[in-house]
This record gives sequence, C-alpha cells and structure tokens, in this order.
Amino acid sequence: MMNMTEEEFFRIQRFLKSRYGIDMANKREIVCGRLENYVRTKGFRNYTEYMNAVEKDFGGALEKDLVNILSTNHTFFMREFEHFDFLRKEVLPWLRQKEAARKDLCIWCGAASTGQEPYMTAMLLMDFFGLEHTLWDTKVLATDISTDALKQAVAGVYTKEQVEALPETWKRRFLKNGPKTGTYEISREVKDQVLFRQFNLMDPFPFKRKMHIIFLRNVMIYFDHETRRQLLKKVYDVMEPGGYLFIGRTETLDRNVIPLQMIQPSVFRKAL
Ligand SMILES: C[S@@+](CC[C@H](N)C(=O)[O-])C[C@H]1O[C@@H](n2cnc3c(N)ncnc32)[C@H](O)[C@@H]1O
Repeated sequence: MMNMTEEEFFRIQRFLKSRYGIDMANKREIVCGRLENYVRTKGFRNYTEYMNAVEKDFGGALEKDLVNILSTNHTFFMREFEHFDFLRKEVLPWLRQKEAARKDLCIWCGAASTGQEPYMTAMLLMDFFGLEHTLWDTKVLATDISTDALKQAVAGVYTKEQVEALPETWKRRFLKNGPKTGTYEISREVKDQVLFRQFNLMDPFPFKRKMHIIFLRNVMIYFDHETRRQLLKKVYDVMEPGGYLFIGRTETLDRNVIPLQMIQPSVFRKAL
C-alpha cells in the first residue's frame, strides 16, 4: 500500500479546494482509495512526487485526471422528478407566455455530470412545447468540471438499468438502440438540444444572457460555506428576473446571501 502522510493529504485537499471548491476534509480514505492505483500506474513513488508534478502541470492532463478521479459524478434519470413536474406545471407555462415574442429560453445545468439531468430537461421541453417546439430555441447549456463525465454525457449511451425509470413514452420517443446490445442511446433530436461544455463553477461566469432556469443540484454539498456564498452571488447575478434556481432536495440555501424567494425547499425564484 502507498502511504499518504497527513501533509500529503492536506496538499491534495488544499489543491482541490482552491481550484474547484471541492472540500475533501475528513475524506482521506476516499482520496487514498481512489488515487492510489492511478498514482502507482503513472510511476510516482509517493504522493509528494505526484503532487509536485500535478502542480507543475497547471491545467494539464494530470490535473484533469485528478479531477476526474476525485469528483463524485453520481446521478440518474428521474432524480428528484418533482422538479420536472414543477417545471411542467408552473415554470414552462409562465415562460411560454413571457417569452412568446422572442421564443428563446436560457437554461443551464451547472453540474451536469454524465448528462441525465440536461437530457431529461431537453425531453421535458420537447414534450411540453410539442409541435411548437421547432419555433422555440430552448437549447440547454450543460457544464461540469469532469471531462470523463462530459465524455459519457456527449456519447449519451446508457444501460437498460440506467434508462429503466424513464416514462415509457419518453423511452420510445427519445431513445434508440445503443452501440452494444442492451444499451440505449439518446436520439439525435434530443442530443441536438443540449450543449455540453467544461466549466468550473469557481470561475467568473462568462454568460452574456441571463438565465431563466438554473439547475445546481447536488453539487454545493461538496463546497464549504464561503465557497457556496461566493457561488450563489454569481448565480443570483446571472438569473433573469422571475427566473428559477433548483438545488438538490437535501441541500439548503442561505437566503441571507441572496434575496431569492423560496417556492419549495429546493426551488427558488428571483423577484420579477
Ligand atoms: C453528484 S453530481 C450531481 C449531478 C446532477 N446535478 C444531479 O443532481 O444528479 C455532482 C457534479 O458536480 C461536478 N462538480 C463538482 N465541483 C464542480 C465545480 N467546481 N464546477 C463544476 N462542476 C463541479 C462534479 O464533477 C459532478 O459531476
């Protein structure tokens, strides 16, 4: 076993937190467990040697691998479906009226992981707008820091078990057979509705337009209080008046930081 000293652990922890906001304090076993094999395979004799190389390789392949290995990308279709029900019943009818002239919606999934959340959003939008959908621009921007997760997202290939929970009508309409037996692939039509990009939530937001809908679900749990605070300020600034923010159902939002109205415990709205 490759030993990880306290100092080495702090160094990895500090690096991940300062660059990506991810707080791994108290997760030493996870860090060791996930990194050991990789570090050994790459030929490093210890974690100090490894971190020297990572820090020298600023923004390069070693850093990318580190993020891929240590980020938690767990997600699944139909996760917190109440949010999608709420979108269908409350948010989309309002937006259909409000943006009737421009027919252009700005929707962003800020921690898209392997794609299930943005693809479901695209499916819901196509379902909601029906024949009228071709008249609207409802492309979903889907970002994450993990390039491995994004690669899977772009491929849009899932196992039978992964797509199981999707409604039958959606499966028939939006999935086709995947490249391997027993796999399913998101249809071209849906893929075209999602734009995947790598983006670190710690960076300044580059968006030119304000967002009508933002998903930041199950990502702020990895950040500490101050990091969340900074992030939420940027999120608030990029929200359209009347726009909605969705966070994970087990997460909380400190409304002293930004004056959003709570619609449900995990659904927030900016004043009109
Ligand atoms: C647990 S997944 C959540 C996926 C999806 N939103 C959901 O609720 O099912 C968390 C995702 O946040 C991403 N993430 C963590 N820190 C990030 C950061 N600083 N910038 C962008 N994405 C980040 C991870 O790579 C991971 O894919």
